[in-house]
Amino acid sequence: MSKLKYQTLTGMHDVLPEDQVYFKRIQKAVESVSNYYSFEKIETPILEIAEVFQKAVGDDTDIVGKEMYTFRTKGGDIVSLRPEGTAAVMRSYLEHGMHNLPQPVKLWYIGPFFRYERPQAGRFRQFHQFGFEAIGEQNPSIDSQIIQMSYGVLKELGFKNLTIEVNSIGDSECRPYFKKILASYFKSRKSSLCQDCQRRLKENPLRILDCKEEKCQTVKAGAPQIIDHLCENCHSHFKQVLEFLDELQLPYVLNPYLVRGLDYYTKTVFEIISVQGGPASGGETAENSQSVGTLIGGGRYDNLAKTLGGRDTAGCGSAAGIERIANLMKAREMKTGPKQEDAKIFLAQLGQLAKRKSMKLFEEFREAKIPVAESFSKDSLKTQLRNANKLGIKWVLIFGQKEALEDFITLRDMDTGTQKEIKLDKVVAEMKAKIKK
Ligand code: HAM
Repeated sequence: MSKLKYQTLTGMHDVLPEDQVYFKRIQKAVESVSNYYSFEKIETPILEIAEVFQKAVGDDTDIVGKEMYTFRTKGGDIVSLRPEGTAAVMRSYLEHGMHNLPQPVKLWYIGPFFRYERPQAGRFRQFHQFGFEAIGEQNPSIDSQIIQMSYGVLKELGFKNLTIEVNSIGDSECRPYFKKILASYFKSRKSSLCQDCQRRLKENPLRILDCKEEKCQTVKAGAPQIIDHLCENCHSHFKQVLEFLDELQLPYVLNPYLVRGLDYYTKTVFEIISVQGGPASGGETAENSQSVGTLIGGGRYDNLAKTLGGRDTAGCGSAAGIERIANLMKAREMKTGPKQEDAKIFLAQLGQLAKRKSMKLFEEFREAKIPVAESFSKDSLKTQLRNANKLGIKWVLIFGQKEALEDFITLRDMDTGTQKEIKLDKVVAEMKAKIKK
């Protein structure tokens, strides 16, 4: 077959009906965790002034430097499709004077994000994230709560063998000094670094620690670790975060090379990955599972508010890639929970008057919150019964010509083939009682 002229853009995809069940399940888990921890929902626009992300995430980062969809509007503003949520949520916090509310202000969000990335497994140009942000509190208990919640959502979805990698990348007091130590270490080994890292050496030597290139691994392995160079304040903060994580019995490991690809982070950073190779994983190898990348990433961002021109305000949060989670759930055939909407009743009709009356009856069922399946576009009773059969539905209500004229309906039990007549004004109540049994 020749290729269709119009297809989705590279890196973009339709979320088809068969995948909605995963998205729905994930959103439900996020909502339930958010409610429990008293996080409230926020929605920010998909477009923001480009500077919000340039300042917050950093001009030198891949996200801003290479991946933002940025353009000039008819009015002359330079705007970007949001590549992430934290900068926009902080912009909103500052714009709406949320510092006047009891702190921390705890917010969650879900929606589409855009990054012009090189297409590869687990990386899309339009993808969905959910995220948590707790703004206005420095206390390390918040960091551990964000980690716990992020972990909690994945647990609730049925993920096993999750690993939480944590690190502290210091703050404006200790990081500049560490960057110098790191730069001098890498400078003397410059020729052993990949092209990108040679550039990173000038811009931000911390980014080299994040490099996945084979070439850089040996040099990285001998690099000084920031954990040994934290100032008093960052050291004590990190120690407390780890104590909370211990108390919560969360499966974390220290990763001294975890730096994250966004400039706004201070102190705690973390990522959650799922490595699963056992029989319960649906046969997936650890390697395959790794290839989708990190499921959730986050950390503390105590300087972000000031960078955006606001007052000094601490913050901590995380965000997750919904496609990555959904694709793993699908590959591993993980449960999506009972489909609440599954109909137990099928409404079949025969003839024009019956069809009209069936549509009305269908609305009565909807008001009573009883799910009912139908094939109103089909005229043949045989086709409709076949559809009911395919759906595995036990109760079929048949609205024929005689029924429509005499205001009753025939109920057929598909398991036994037995039939009975029910008065039209009694049918909703009677069926309600039947499906409750
Ligand atoms: P991030 O690490 O850039 O952090 O993204 C978070 C998660 O979004 C990733 O772990 C991944 O699952 C998913 N993700 C990112 N890019 C893509 C992509 N191109 N395709 C599919 N999934 C993707 C942030 O965005 C921060 N705002 C997180 C945060 C919130 N930090 C503090 N608060």
